[in-house]
Amino acid sequence: MCGIIGYVGSKDALPILIDSLKQLEYRGYDSSGVGLLGHNAQLIVRKAKGKIASLEELIRHQPVPYASVGISHTRWATHGLPSDINSHPHTDNKHRLAVVHNGIIENYQPLKEALKKKGCKFISQTDTEVIAHLVATLYNGDLVEAVRRAINQLKGAFAIGVIHADHPDMLVAARVGSPLIVGVGERENYIASDVPAIIERTRRVIYLKDGQMAVLTKEGVKVSDFAGKAAAFKIDTVDFNVTAARKEGYPHFMLKEIHEQPQALAQMISLRLKNGRLNCEGLDLSDAVLGGIKRIAMVACGTAYHAGLVGKYVIEELARLPVDVDTSSEFRYRNPIIDKHTLLVAVSQSGETADTLAAVREAKAKGAKIVVICNVIGSSIVRESDGVLYTHAGPEIGVASTKAYTAQLMMFYILALRLAAARKTISPAGAKKFIAELKRIPLLYKDILKKKAHVQKAAEANSHFGCFLFLGRNVNYPSALEGALKLKEISYIPAEGYAAGEMKHGPIALIDEYRAVVCIAPQSHVYEKMASNMQEIRARKGNIIAIATQGDKEIKRHADFVLDIPKAHELLTPLLVALPLQLLAYYIAVKRGNDVDQPRNLAKSVTVE
Ligand code: G6P
Repeated sequence: MCGIIGYVGSKDALPILIDSLKQLEYRGYDSSGVGLLGHNAQLIVRKAKGKIASLEELIRHQPVPYASVGISHTRWATHGLPSDINSHPHTDNKHRLAVVHNGIIENYQPLKEALKKKGCKFISQTDTEVIAHLVATLYNGDLVEAVRRAINQLKGAFAIGVIHADHPDMLVAARVGSPLIVGVGERENYIASDVPAIIERTRRVIYLKDGQMAVLTKEGVKVSDFAGKAAAFKIDTVDFNVTAARKEGYPHFMLKEIHEQPQALAQMISLRLKNGRLNCEGLDLSDAVLGGIKRIAMVACGTAYHAGLVGKYVIEELARLPVDVDTSSEFRYRNPIIDKHTLLVAVSQSGETADTLAAVREAKAKGAKIVVICNVIGSSIVRESDGVLYTHAGPEIGVASTKAYTAQLMMFYILALRLAAARKTISPAGAKKFIAELKRIPLLYKDILKKKAHVQKAAEANSHFGCFLFLGRNVNYPSALEGALKLKEISYIPAEGYAAGEMKHGPIALIDEYRAVVCIAPQSHVYEKMASNMQEIRARKGNIIAIATQGDKEIKRHADFVLDIPKAHELLTPLLVALPLQLLAYYIAVKRGNDVDQPRNLAKSVTVE
């Protein structure tokens, strides 16, 4: 969480930092700040609670002088409430150096006690402030050396940027665990948490590795390890669609990203389809290795976890391979049973989620082969995996995941077909038929999106309910979990997802005329069971919004609202029901006046435990 951006060059740093920081607001947005090195060896800091607009407002009242070196930060609080004082940058007591930090310093308490004994005065409740005081106490004119000695004392995860008034042409950065890139420009250089922050200024990027620090001046970049040994580095050119990071006329990124799904999936299929066969380029595992796998263990968090659950149904059905799915945070502390015949599949939009990264490391240490399904090229989890299946859905800015989720689902169908081919559990003709069905999905998406006004009507008519239940069966049980998650993330309405067969074991007690129940009931081998569940809800006066296959007259008799999806292969219905579920959550949140793209307390990338 938290976003960092730093600049060293000859231009006015402030507008660059503020503009770039806005591209990182998805990482956290409870406060923000900027630290600049003015021409007369002065450190200028401005910080404010609230979104970046509050910082801009502050700077309008307290203008800053021209400066061409600076760091800035948008925060998602871990230690200490969101407040002006707890915002970054943090400074030393002489107000000479400033630090921005993303991550958690686990040993900050003992460090703080030791620094207090040396006379340092702490003014915030953050773990970050120890870094500022620590660097200051170790400083004797050589900033790089002071930062190096300080970071060797830190435990936990961190990406930091440090500036010092004695060094008005320098920015020092370092990372362990939390992401940090260096952007290489023409006589100007940047640090940033992620590519979107700098893409409009440079496409040339150095992905710092864990345990590396970088020293930036406008003339160049030097990379070294924490022992001070110079490290070779590669400058990658990133291929990134700039317009993808803009709203392009949509009121919210989430709505834009919902609409991008037909194109994202069509592109994914065309990238993967060669000579009528879908390939898993990046998987880097031969038929022999795939044939030798005895089971798949999956790890993921949040929406990606729900994609993994759908993946379990799909892989078990098509490839007849047992799959276990865990939330990463449970897996990593559970001493999981993993061996060299296990394929560990991690699912992560960002590739930076701390728990998923730790789960990957745990499985790797136990001898598993690691494959990650990921949307962000070159991210931390990708770098630690044996193979990667990129979803190429483009940057996802809305905190509530939409297009990354359906791209993950699509990748599971492709992976399942690959595994099924290696394990000979599907015939070539069967695979061909399935691929033809997959190819129709982008078109079917367009049909669903054409009917969004009807979803909006259903959303507005139900937005007053204080509690929602989402029910689904079989491959759409995870869809129910995801539908409930989407709703609670952005509308703040308590919502629970349940396997409909479990309804009588508890949730039925909730049902009365004051509850809304979303029933996911497309045509399938469990359709009749869902229809019975709906009658039971009806009998208890529950309000029903059903998601059903177009033309289903039976369901209309049991539901207050029916949201149609086109007819499709049963196994593919999670891909289709995802859209009305996303739109429903979106329109309910809009109706309730919520900040859809930046819901309270959440962040897009959870890079701390
Ligand atoms: C956060 C985001 C979710 C996301 C989850 C996992 O909670 O708000 O949208 O699903 O992290 O993130 P990942 O990047 O690993 O998919």
